[in-house]
Amino acid sequence: IEKLLCSQDLAGKKVLITAGPTREYLDPIRFISNRSSGKMGYALAEEAYKRGAKVTVISGPVNINTYADIEIINVQTAFQMYHKVKDIYMQYDILIFSAAVADYRPKSVSENKIKKENRDELAIELVKNPDILKFVGDNKKPGQIIVGFSAETENVIENSQEKLKTKNADLIVANNVLEEGAGFDVDTNIVTLISKEKIENLPKMSKSEVAERIFDHVLTYLCKM
Ligand code: CTP
Ligand code: CA
Repeated sequence: IEKLLCSQDLAGKKVLITAGPTREYLDPIRFISNRSSGKMGYALAEEAYKRGAKVTVISGPVNINTYADIEIINVQTAFQMYHKVKDIYMQYDILIFSAAVADYRPKSVSENKIKKENRDELAIELVKNPDILKFVGDNKKPGQIIVGFSAETENVIENSQEKLKTKNADLIVANNVLEEGAGFDVDTNIVTLISKEKIENLPKMSKSEVAERIFDHVLTYLCKM
């Protein structure tokens, strides 16, 4: 019983997590997306739930089943994810942005299927999507803890430290997505936890262990409040 009580260290906390990829439609049947599986985000949701939190996931399209007590809000586009987060983020204590949000979307979405007839080339004009994490960082309520992720293929630490600052996050979980056993699709991850105070390199571990480490870190902030 003691162990159970001690492990409920997020009891009474509300946790919001964005997870998975987004889909940016060109026409009713085609979209631009990315390789995100959502595994990291759902591992975070399950870890928070086991530790006693009330958990909501705003999820792009993924193939994952989870506990019925974890609330899942399904979205497809970055724009939908942005609006959902905006609507509800104020109610949460801990916000984790693990979604692989598309940075750009097609400038216009064709109402009908785009036909190839009379066309040898097709250029798609893209416009920037809103930065969901930055919006919350810029508008955060005192006491809210914000965790972002950072996918990089070069200058991982420097670029991630820059994201920590510009997005006003408390912690950035950085990963080099080209490294084997890290990033998309796989069950493991190799990350560096970057905060104002320190840089912590973690060895290759399962995504649920990474989730555990992230909440251990978040707890050090909760304890200081
Ligand atoms: N993010 C977000 N909304 C976006 C883009 C990114 O909330 N429109 C979040 C991601 O969920 C992640 C963090 O911002 O937590 C960093 O995402 P990343 O793609 O690594 O960095 P960007 O800021 O998008 O910059 P770039 O892709 O150019 O490196
Ligand atoms: Ca990006």
